[in-house]
Amino acid sequence: MEFNRRNILLIPLLLLATSTLTPLQSSSSSESESSESIIISRFQTYLQIKTDQPNPNYTQSTNFLTSQAKSLSLQSQTIELVSGKPLVLLKWAGTSPNLPSIMLYSHTDVVPAEHDKWAHHPFEAHIDSRGRIYARGSQDMKCVGMQYLEAVRKLKGWGFVPKRDVYLVFAPDEEIGGHDGAEKFSLSQVFRELNVGIVLDEGLASPDEHYRAFYAERSPWWMVIKAVGAPGHGSKLYDNSAMENLLKSIESIRRYRASQFDLIKAGLKAEGDVVSINMAFLKAGTPSPTGFVMNLQPSEAEAGFDIRVPPTADAESLERRIAEEWAPAWRNMSVSLGQFKQKVPVTDAYGKPVVTKTDSSNPWWALLENAVQEAGGKLGKPEIFPASTDARYFRNLGLPAIGFSPMANTPVLLHDHNEYLNKDEYLKGIKIYESIIKSFASFDEHGRDERFKDEL
Ligand SMILES: *[C@@H]1O[C@H](CO)[C@@H](O)[C@H](O)[C@H]1NC(C)=O
Ligand SMILES: *[C@@H]1O[C@H](CO)[C@@H](O)[C@H](O)[C@H]1NC(C)=O
Ligand SMILES: [Zn+2]
Repeated sequence: MEFNRRNILLIPLLLLATSTLTPLQSSSSSESESSESIIISRFQTYLQIKTDQPNPNYTQSTNFLTSQAKSLSLQSQTIELVSGKPLVLLKWAGTSPNLPSIMLYSHTDVVPAEHDKWAHHPFEAHIDSRGRIYARGSQDMKCVGMQYLEAVRKLKGWGFVPKRDVYLVFAPDEEIGGHDGAEKFSLSQVFRELNVGIVLDEGLASPDEHYRAFYAERSPWWMVIKAVGAPGHGSKLYDNSAMENLLKSIESIRRYRASQFDLIKAGLKAEGDVVSINMAFLKAGTPSPTGFVMNLQPSEAEAGFDIRVPPTADAESLERRIAEEWAPAWRNMSVSLGQFKQKVPVTDAYGKPVVTKTDSSNPWWALLENAVQEAGGKLGKPEIFPASTDARYFRNLGLPAIGFSPMANTPVLLHDHNEYLNKDEYLKGIKIYESIIKSFASFDEHGRDERFKDEL
């Protein structure tokens, strides 16, 4: 991947004395209330920036994040691997810069919102009487980006000094696949020089009291199958029409879908552990001025499917199933990849399944569990993320990456109408990150994923 150094804007190190940062202490409840309201209003300011796709205002988010960095005396760089798509990279330098660093990753863009279906405007960040902050991005994932910053603010205020370098990354374009954001960044020289040892990225809200943590994710395979067959009169019964051929595939796909869904319904598997397959479109028929020609059986028919494959699944047998049952050439069927040509492999650059270890070979996992517990949180069983995140680009390099967004007692509303996060959960999440960052940044063993060490 080509990388153009001229695209880097270096904003010089800001040498602000740490003494200008007064520790936030709750000497009286009104004082802590006011500091809490300042924290919440900073979150609201970030939420109010319209970074919704397809035209995110990255100028404004970059200005905001850069000013946050300045107020925290963090080094700041804005990197444009693609013009107009800035990635903000902040650095909190550690005392042992030779140790692999910590990367606190988030994306700045959000999905669009249908304003009229929301109770409050999606970019107002209105707080209701129950403390719910309504905004696009309140869960996915401006919360996390700001919580990293607030946790660093607290830790700095207390005089904590990290051993490892801590990087905060605010990347563009995750919601449209991350190709001009995380993907190019992960392959860049800048990234290589960060010597990253562990990546934290987004997870999902949890309706119960347990926080959720993700060690892998399913790969999207966007499949289009096309059938051709002899055209004929609408009144004639004959074999091998395009429609009949396509319907045979659809029936087979539906049986497979039901078998996977049954495993979830029976409580045998979690959502991320099965192969999901859903029909995204059906395209067939011969158009007429008033709709479709009814007395004609068309010679072509097509259907598109969104398939999600966990790294634990047998991808080869799925491919065989596609070739033999869902789109067999002998039935005049062909298969192609959809719109974004997605077929993300389930193995990494070294041919190993794209998973972050959750056993003792990965010390970061135990550190995370302990840190969450010490901050008074409960962590659920590690899960496979059902959809895609930018974490895959880092896992593909063999790096450990954990998906984690501290939102307990919160319905999963990412990409939904009325996305919200309660302000108390948000504040609790900051404490969780204080504990995690402190623990990760104090850990002074090498801490590389075993298999990554082998490959170096
Ligand atoms: C984006 O934000 C900048 C800086 O705040 C502002 O000047 C500009 O008008 C915004 N662009 C759009 C399209 O709203
Ligand atoms: C394949 O398509 C050809 C041409 O339309 C048709 O004659 C033949 O019967 C089809 N075969 C099958 C198995 O659908
Ligand atoms: Zn997200």
